[in-house]
Amino acid sequence: MTILWDLDPRAQETYAFALGDRVEPHTHGPRVMRALEEDPRHRLVVIGPDVPVDSACQLAEALRVDRPEVGVLLLRDRLDVNLMGLALRSGVREVIQADDHTALADAVRRNEQLAMQLAGDSATTARGKVITVFSAKGGVGKTTVSTNVAAHLASSGARTLLVDLDLMFGDVAISLQLIPSGTVTDLVAMRGHLDRAGLESVVVTHEPTGLDIVAPSSDPGDAERIPSDVILELLRTARGLYDYVIVDTPPAFTEHVLTALDVSDLAVLITTLDIPAVKNLRVAMNTLDTLGGSTDNRVVVLNRAGMKVGLDSDEVETALKQAISVSIPNSLSVPAATNRGVPLVVHDPKDAASIALRELADRQVRERFGERLEQVPKRGFGRRRSRV
Ligand SMILES: Nc1ncnc2c1ncn2[C@@H]1O[C@H](COP(=O)(O)OP(=O)(O)OP(=O)(O)O)[C@@H](O)[C@H]1O
Ligand SMILES: [Mg+2]
Repeated sequence: MTILWDLDPRAQETYAFALGDRVEPHTHGPRVMRALEEDPRHRLVVIGPDVPVDSACQLAEALRVDRPEVGVLLLRDRLDVNLMGLALRSGVREVIQADDHTALADAVRRNEQLAMQLAGDSATTARGKVITVFSAKGGVGKTTVSTNVAAHLASSGARTLLVDLDLMFGDVAISLQLIPSGTVTDLVAMRGHLDRAGLESVVVTHEPTGLDIVAPSSDPGDAERIPSDVILELLRTARGLYDYVIVDTPPAFTEHVLTALDVSDLAVLITTLDIPAVKNLRVAMNTLDTLGGSTDNRVVVLNRAGMKVGLDSDEVETALKQAISVSIPNSLSVPAATNRGVPLVVHDPKDAASIALRELADRQVRERFGERLEQVPKRGFGRRRSRV
């Protein structure tokens, strides 16, 4: 099925010769995006001559990373070199004179052939999963959970990237004793054309586990200079290159966090046994509900469980109206591992908190996304090859 995006509601008749009758016409860009999201079988978008070139290029850019199998053909009343350069750089496959219906029919045929080839390739390449670890209160264990879950996934052989989206005070790199050669800020210069090589230039690898990391710059002032679409592009590109992309976040609904949650396949929501943490998480969950997030792709994790502080896990579940999926006990090994600069799952695999963190990664991530755990070879914590 071909999507025809044209401001003229009668455009379907105009291009009937070239496009045939299996056409889904749309006059608004957001409807085109929704149609593509709703039906993964779409393979072609034809954009009519009245759609502004910027909007057309934005769509092509988004699809280039997110749905590379979908071709974009751009129709224009007049062709010129600048326009063609701009369009092709954004990911448009061909720019065609709007009244040349034979050329359009040929381009549609070429697209079909390419789509068939790509379908063969993509059957074996599944898209990676984005998992955002969030809490609305500081200091409850987001970095501990994201780092350890990511380290365990990487150690299990999965290509894993940990993105530190705490752009002001991120401490993932330091907690793993890594010195990044590039940072999220460097991605701003690659805006609109981030690719494997660009991502590789800012990734640092934690050699003992094979975990790749993207860290923020050490200047907190950089955070507000990073547009959300750079984060979106980072996550979309990473999703095409890694099995799992784990996102650590600051304790606030920043634009960057909302962007990450929006593209996430799973949100891991952390609370502890204290009223402010539970209350803030409930408010955050209400916000996610309002934004249209699904409750199916959320898990609640109780960190520092078992502490006798007058609040128990049943009360937390009642207040959150959601079951706790994993409880991570309070353990002195957690800060000890952080201070040594090694993930707890590596430093002390037998510790109760370490076991709970691995369970979170195994049950709520690997199994949830279709990994058959018994079939995954146990490879210990040896050196891993990074994917990018
Ligand atoms: N299960 C646990 N047992 C004991 N200490 C823990 C546990 N989880 C986290 N901690 C400790 O709590 C502190 C805060 O943890 P962490 O940095 O992971 O929280 P955070 O939510 O990322 O904080 P921030 O909001 O500041 O980014 C750290 O010193 C960490 O070692
Ligand atoms: Mg943190």
